[in-house]
Amino acid sequence: MNSLSQRLIELGTVAVAPSVLAADFTDIKAEIEAVEKSGADFLHLDVMDGHFVENITFGPMIVEAIARVSKLPLITHLMISDPAKYAPSFIKAGSAAVSIHFEAMGSGHRAVLEEIRSGGCLAGLAVNPDTSIDEFGDLLDGIDLFLAMTVFPGFGGQKFIPEVMDKIRDVVAVRESKGQDFVIEVDGGVNLSTAGMVREAGGQILVAGSAVFGTDDYSGAIASIRGA
Ligand code: DX5
Ligand code: ZN
Repeated sequence: MNSLSQRLIELGTVAVAPSVLAADFTDIKAEIEAVEKSGADFLHLDVMDGHFVENITFGPMIVEAIARVSKLPLITHLMISDPAKYAPSFIKAGSAAVSIHFEAMGSGHRAVLEEIRSGGCLAGLAVNPDTSIDEFGDLLDGIDLFLAMTVFPGFGGQKFIPEVMDKIRDVVAVRESKGQDFVIEVDGGVNLSTAGMVREAGGQILVAGSAVFGTDDYSGAIASIRGA
């Protein structure tokens, strides 16, 4: 059993991972402490390269700085064109899990996922809303984390795409039929109104950027997203 599955069993519930993309970066240490105190389970870090997606955020240097001030495990979401080249620096920076995008590579995913694991991190596979299980299904046996995108990656604050729930249900069915134990993370437009749908479909780690950092009640937002 991977350590994310273990942690979720301990929690006995779904987990919430605030995305720091929507946090106030002039005071990132205080923002991280605030979500820690408000019951967050993980921190979700969105790395964008301006090439795989049309936005640029931050690289391993900032991940490393966040790792120094965060008590929460870091789930790093690489929205970059060359994950094979850069995944090692995000492992070294202190990530607990590193997810690469299926769409970032024509082939060779398995080798990068194995490299992430051998570097001591959990290996995640992220997929865009329009990528079907027929394309990535074969890779599910080599991952610790499946990251279902419910918006097209690139920006926070976008509208949730509910059609992705069908794919999540299909992934849950494959996992059960094959006895796999990866954890399902869901990212994009998750808020107080959409979280229930995500939990029902089988989402276990719910990522929320604007729905947490865009409010003045982090605890209330995290508790409602969790469904507590
Ligand atoms: C989108 C990112 C998300 C984003 C979520 O490309 O991967 O993690 O920050 O933000 P909200 O919760 O605002 O949709
Ligand atoms: Zn993300």
